[in-house]
Amino acid sequence: MARIPLVAGNWKMNFDHLEATYFVQKLAWLLRDAHFDRRRCQVALMPAFTALRSVQVLVEADNLPIEYGAQAVSVTTQGAFTGDVSADMLAQLGCSYVIVGHSERRKYHPEDDANIVDQVRAVLAADMKPILCVGESYEERRQGIQLDFAVGQVNDVTRDLAKEDMANLIVAYEPVWAIGTGMVATPDTAQQAARAIRDHISSKFGDPAGQSVRILYGGSVTSKNASQMISQPDVDGFLVGGASLDVEEFARIVRLAA
Ligand code: G3H
Repeated sequence: MARIPLVAGNWKMNFDHLEATYFVQKLAWLLRDAHFDRRRCQVALMPAFTALRSVQVLVEADNLPIEYGAQAVSVTTQGAFTGDVSADMLAQLGCSYVIVGHSERRKYHPEDDANIVDQVRAVLAADMKPILCVGESYEERRQGIQLDFAVGQVNDVTRDLAKEDMANLIVAYEPVWAIGTGMVATPDTAQQAARAIRDHISSKFGDPAGQSVRILYGGSVTSKNASQMISQPDVDGFLVGGASLDVEEFARIVRLAA
């Protein structure tokens, strides 16, 4: 089954709404210049909450071939939860994706597996796609348990989901040691992890589900390593952090995946 690659830029806590506006306009111009075809590759931006509306206005005004989403979501639908943003609020802003379980959220916020499962459910219920982040730390890698660890995280979050949910799930394999360090995983490492995750989903939910789920690689992706990485059969795109803050570099990565 042909899977359309996805290149998603996770801006993390960078870019206010004015900087986001400039970026989107420039990216749209670069994609147009490169004859970007959204049927061959999808490109998404994950701004801070404060910039989502600005991105939506630009994308909808010119029907830009750019999708967008959020970096986090509340597990509740509404009420007295100061500072939280619900999945329905994000869907109303035209979000297609929400990052769930990013290692920075697991580290700096009290997000455990149970909470991450609830986030995935909230995102799916609002007709968006969760980008579920998994991946081992340096210590787990040193112990040689990286594949079991990543697959275990996928299993913990997906075990009670329905087979139909798999059609909307995206998994990002992001080894923690590779995030923001410049130490990118080898293409072979990324392929092995993506393959192990896909095999796991096939074994639990059936081969069509395993074959259709998109598995991204994240961790120090740049235009220098993207080409080899995307040529791996089970790597379906990227979750790009630092390199997504440079619009020319991000556009280069998109072109390599398209
Ligand atoms: O969500 C993106 C990842 O954390 C990767 O970040 O590309 O800066 O290593 P990075």
